[in-house]
Amino acid sequence: MSYLFCSFAFPMQDELILSNNQTIPKTDKRQLYIESYGCAMNFSDSEIIGSIMSENGFEYTKDEFSADVIFLNTCAIRDNAEQKIRDRLKHLRNNKRKNSDLIIGVLGCMAERLKTKLLEEEKLVDIVAGPDSYRDLPNLVAEVETGNRAINVLLSREETYAEISPLRLNTNGISAFVSIMRGCDNMCSFCVVPFTRGRERSRDPQTILEEVKILGDNGYKEITLLGQNVDSYLWFGGGPKIDYKNASVEQKENAVSFAQLLEKVALVHPSMRIRFSTSHPKDINDDVLHTIAKYPNICNHIHLPAQSGSTRLLEAMNRTYSREWYLERINKIKEIIPNCSISCDIIAGFCSETEEDHQATLSLMEECKFIFSYMYKYSERPGTLAQKKMQDDVPEEIKSRRLTEIIEVQSKISLENNQKMIGKVVTVLIDSVSKKSEMDLCGRNDQNNIVVFPREDYQLGDYANVLIERATGTTLIGKAVK
Ligand code: SAH
Ligand code: SF4
Ligand code: F3S
Repeated sequence: MSYLFCSFAFPMQDELILSNNQTIPKTDKRQLYIESYGCAMNFSDSEIIGSIMSENGFEYTKDEFSADVIFLNTCAIRDNAEQKIRDRLKHLRNNKRKNSDLIIGVLGCMAERLKTKLLEEEKLVDIVAGPDSYRDLPNLVAEVETGNRAINVLLSREETYAEISPLRLNTNGISAFVSIMRGCDNMCSFCVVPFTRGRERSRDPQTILEEVKILGDNGYKEITLLGQNVDSYLWFGGGPKIDYKNASVEQKENAVSFAQLLEKVALVHPSMRIRFSTSHPKDINDDVLHTIAKYPNICNHIHLPAQSGSTRLLEAMNRTYSREWYLERINKIKEIIPNCSISCDIIAGFCSETEEDHQATLSLMEECKFIFSYMYKYSERPGTLAQKKMQDDVPEEIKSRRLTEIIEVQSKISLENNQKMIGKVVTVLIDSVSKKSEMDLCGRNDQNNIVVFPREDYQLGDYANVLIERATGTTLIGKAVK
């Protein structure tokens, strides 16, 4: 899953457009401003929040200073993610000074982790709302308007916001996220997500297919199916997840697995690109790989976080697979989908990591030739298994040095991978204008490489065949060929 530590605000428009095509005319409703932090799931959640609030008398502004309500949809994955929110809250004090009626809500994973503490620590926060409480937001705002502060951090075993039609206002009209499940039942020892997002539950496939259909009908060209562990998606007809072996015969007959869901989604609009994130090495099975290979519109890219290349450390992380298992999965991917690219997440300096463990991570990276990696220094999170049972004993300067080495190896591999693309023609879905030059367009190929080329007559949302002429570690550069 990609981690987008930036914020967005919804652009001002004359009307708000729901993804089911319903439009809500702009009036003098109360103004809502939202900033999202963290992973794609949070960005997707903000669109759900947008929908709920717009049906309850709010409209969006991109101007935080004209907002009546400001929501920060927060992340708790590492300490620095939370630090960023605290800094932002300090800045928001100025807005509150200018407008004493301003309501500030902290939503998402940090809200869930800190609960009432957030109200105590950050005096200017009026609302604290966890990821499963968004239907309650209009009530929480109303509560604040009566002079109280409001909190809802109840986690649910069932909530998937299945039938809510997200507000696609922060969009380029080309790519969209579609959430297929919530929560996580894995207990990776370093990770706070199971505590902030609760138990895993899958969304009704029918509502997923309807959302994808509407997106395609509205001109979207690419969707990314989202979940913390998409490969364990399993629909049994609703409610909390049940183990497959405990399901009734009837439940098993009607069950929908991730491979089956992927196939159904691919068939909705055969020209629409389908991506998904994140896959877990213990759960990605051959059915999923065969489905990717079978449908040309399912992109040949898998984000498969390894976290470490050392079996000993993987055990300490409770990842439930070994280095050998991971490499076997990589080989299988290459066998079934020969031109599939693979990306990774890596943690440097987890508890008890030795130099030998670190070298094992570097050699795993060399062996797998990841297209890109998200690389982090281990950050101890309160309440996790690692915090309770292990020592955060790798000194800060060693963590930093190891992270630097990991980044250097990835940069070298990315450059080598990209240079091999020179002379090839790739199909690019154009999704933006290049940041460096208005004359160039930017997009991604099937394998998720970033490609930049001169604009000519192409428009955003077009597909272009691009001959690659040059490559940097991050970008392929070329020209369109007919
Ligand atoms: N569900 C996904 C990842 C979710 S969190 C998966 O299992 O792969 C995203 C990434 O943040 C993780 O893959 C991990 O690399 C990193 N991460 C999670 N907790 C962390 C911590 N305590 N310190 C540093 N990085 C962490
Ligand atoms: Fe965290 Fe592990 Fe779940 Fe990913 S699979 S969200 S790393 S507990
Ligand atoms: Fe995502 Fe951060 Fe929560 S990575 S699930 S927003 S802790």
